[in-house]
Amino acid sequence: RTVAVLSGGLSHERDVSLRSGRRLSTALRAVGLTVDEWDTDGTLLTKLSTQKPDAVVIALHGGEGENGSIQTVLEMLGLPFVGADSHACRRAWDKPTAKAELSRSGLLTPDWVVLPHSTFRELGAQAVLDAMVARLGLPLMLKPDQGGSALGAQVVRDAADLPAAMVGCLAYGDTVLAEQFIEGTEVAVTVIDGAHGPEALPAVEIIPEGGVYDYTSRYTAGLTNFHAPARLTPAAAQGVADLAVSAHRLLGLRDVSRTDAVITPTGDIHFLEVNVSPGLTETSLLPMATEAAGKSLGEIYAELIDRALT
Ligand code: DAL
Ligand code: MG
Repeated sequence: RTVAVLSGGLSHERDVSLRSGRRLSTALRAVGLTVDEWDTDGTLLTKLSTQKPDAVVIALHGGEGENGSIQTVLEMLGLPFVGADSHACRRAWDKPTAKAELSRSGLLTPDWVVLPHSTFRELGAQAVLDAMVARLGLPLMLKPDQGGSALGAQVVRDAADLPAAMVGCLAYGDTVLAEQFIEGTEVAVTVIDGAHGPEALPAVEIIPEGGVYDYTSRYTAGLTNFHAPARLTPAAAQGVADLAVSAHRLLGLRDVSRTDAVITPTGDIHFLEVNVSPGLTETSLLPMATEAAGKSLGEIYAELIDRALT
């Protein structure tokens, strides 16, 4: 049996993905699987259809790895893979879609507006920014509506910084998701499908030294402190676990997902986003959660590969 681990790709998160792919491949070999590491490029389709791996694990992040593109290709070829199907990926990858879905079910998520680039051209940039601040207040958070690893994300505390922050955000995509910035404890909760349905692993608490969990503080060892499990009250720990399982179910996800959330000082839990291809690097959250659960990364993914094959 051969498992193909797909990594690399052409998204802004290419480097992160190569690191995830390497770590996952090592972990799978350590539990006895035969692994082919594939750096994804234009030859992928040909390679998949000629080499026909028994199963595929997607360690791609960003664009094609999470928006349903790779998943569609694998579905067309009839190759078993770990992770959500193409439709579910598309919905989860689009942050406003995921927020709307959870919000409709009564879960909390920071109030938000979606601003396509064209809004600024057509309606006047300053007028749009003013209306956005009037609606959401400050501080607020700007993110590309689709994206990962905090690339293009900006916390804005002062209205004077908005135009530059908006330009910075639009550099990573055509549409901005602007959200109220919620102060509190940031946590990430991994959900794994098991014999009894989706189960949450212990939450991981994220404490960036510089206050903001940006790209550099995500992928430079030592710039962020973590607690796994997170230091939460039993009620908050249960609350974030329930939220992550709800997100997994409501969005129709499969095998694995990681929900990022913030807990306010008064105990409200806000959904931020869900990731269908969580990072697996040395500083990533999912491997910390599996370790806190007393399992190795290799064991968990080997079980998911077995599920994909049955
Ligand atoms: N987008 C990165 C890989 C993550 O969520 O871990
Ligand atoms: Mg993400």
